[in-house]
Amino acid sequence: MGADLGLTTRLTTLPRFVSWSAMGVRAVFLVGFMASGKSSVGQELARRLNWDFVDLDAHIESRERQTVPEIFRDRGEPGFRRAEATALHDLTESLERNTVVALGGGTFAHPGNRELLRPWPSVFLDAPLEELWQRRREDATIRPLGEDPSEFARLYEFRLPFYRQATVTVVTSGKDLASLCAEIERTLQFREGTEAAGSSQISPDHFSTGELQ
Ligand code: S3P
Repeated sequence: MGADLGLTTRLTTLPRFVSWSAMGVRAVFLVGFMASGKSSVGQELARRLNWDFVDLDAHIESRERQTVPEIFRDRGEPGFRRAEATALHDLTESLERNTVVALGGGTFAHPGNRELLRPWPSVFLDAPLEELWQRRREDATIRPLGEDPSEFARLYEFRLPFYRQATVTVVTSGKDLASLCAEIERTLQFREGTEAAGSSQISPDHFSTGELQ
């Protein structure tokens, strides 16, 4: 707990975070595998903060006038990734109000997208594979890359190191939406007078510059 408090104090001096407040608009990007709860947590967090909420997949669908499965069917995964990267780029360029964004499961695995999101805080919703697969099976959403259990597991292992590059990791197991949102708010200091959360971790990557001492 003591270490977390120290990290959070240092977080406020981080240069990359200066940029999002200086721009006058705040945003936070939720990162994680399929069925990790990005959209549910994002909606609830936005409601609590009175911020806008954008689900990147829904945003892509409205721009492209096709569903995600239709884009995969007609253009393959490369076509979907192009649409995803363009939609994310345009979204970050056009933010006018404080916004919580739920990314797709593959968004943060792509280096160009991670680079684009460097000025903004990101939160990895960390859940074990078994739990994700169980939730994925119970959820009616069609996920072109989430049909086969071994491919699901392979993708999860491949992407974990990228997800861990998010600003903050929040372990989701056994927590309800309210406590997850409260933990995110405390850790990213979205509310005045709050302190660091117990189990959230701020990525060591964010403390790699000499300016943080
Ligand atoms: C994908 C996850 C989906 C969606 C698309 C690709 C992925 O989003 O973006 O089907 O590559 O993991 P969710 O994580 O919201 O299911």
